[in-house]
Amino acid sequence: MKASAPGKIILFGEHAVVYGRPALAVPVTQVHAEVEIAGSDSTGIWIHTPDINLHAELNSLPSDHPIAAVVHNFLFLSRTFASPSGRGARGEGRLPHFNIRITSTIPVASGLGSGAAVTVALVRALSSYLNYPMSDEEINAFAYDIEKLHHGTPSGIDNTVVTYAKPVYFVKNQPIELFKVGAPFTIVIGDTGIPAPTKESVADVRKHWEADKEMWESVFDEVGKISSEARDSIERGKTRELGELMNQNHALLQEMTVSSPELDRLVEAARKAGAIGSKLSGGGRGGNMIALVEAENAGEVSSALVSAGAKRTLITTVS
Ligand code: MEV
Repeated sequence: MKASAPGKIILFGEHAVVYGRPALAVPVTQVHAEVEIAGSDSTGIWIHTPDINLHAELNSLPSDHPIAAVVHNFLFLSRTFASPSGRGARGEGRLPHFNIRITSTIPVASGLGSGAAVTVALVRALSSYLNYPMSDEEINAFAYDIEKLHHGTPSGIDNTVVTYAKPVYFVKNQPIELFKVGAPFTIVIGDTGIPAPTKESVADVRKHWEADKEMWESVFDEVGKISSEARDSIERGKTRELGELMNQNHALLQEMTVSSPELDRLVEAARKAGAIGSKLSGGGRGGNMIALVEAENAGEVSSALVSAGAKRTLITTVS
């Protein structure tokens, strides 16, 4: 039984989205997390994650280990809420023995949603393997609980875009809204190669906000306005208008202190190489930036990013 989930990028609105402003995110299908579950003769539930050299039986891991937490929560959910519809109908307390193999091409702590993608792929695989069907809505709610466990005060945007694998206009605690892409556009993603846990930048922005709520609320308002305008431009197919909005959004992220010299260098290099606009994407401090480009200019921008220090680049079309 195999399941997978894509990576993601935030086009507009990261951080402000934690404070209720809208943000736009799209899936990145060139990278993904994949989970395979197969029966096993050895006792227990074994987790194999070769990327991080983890080979362990579930109960030997701390219960708050990110992967163990997903499995424990899933087993709890599927057994506790077994319904007469047949969902979760299994022998009480008798767990099957199986192997879970997790692989991912999404760089960790890079703003591309690797944690959310592993959770969603793992829940999907468990749900099929253990015959406990779950809707996207249920998977999304499950993944949000896991995000909260590890990331403090997440908005829920990462798990949402990764679960639905569609462009999402996201407002915290509101029903999900998908948005239409009027004309496809090309994004080059540049990775600083510097791992930067989202939890830390989110916590730092919160400290600033707590020290001067009035000022930061108005910064978040500006970001929210940019996200709404960007959605409008994307839906009307006026994608060139997004460039300036990206630049403005990056300046506001710099104000929030979540950029870094490496991110700024890549953002500048992209603009110099002819990108229509560029900004950091995700939690910031390290991780990835994005540049909006004409399709024919993508190679040139990508090379300029590598010359400016990017550890890898990806070219993706939003459609
Ligand atoms: C991370 O991809 C996006 C942030 O806005 C955090 C969140 O929304 O939970 C930085």
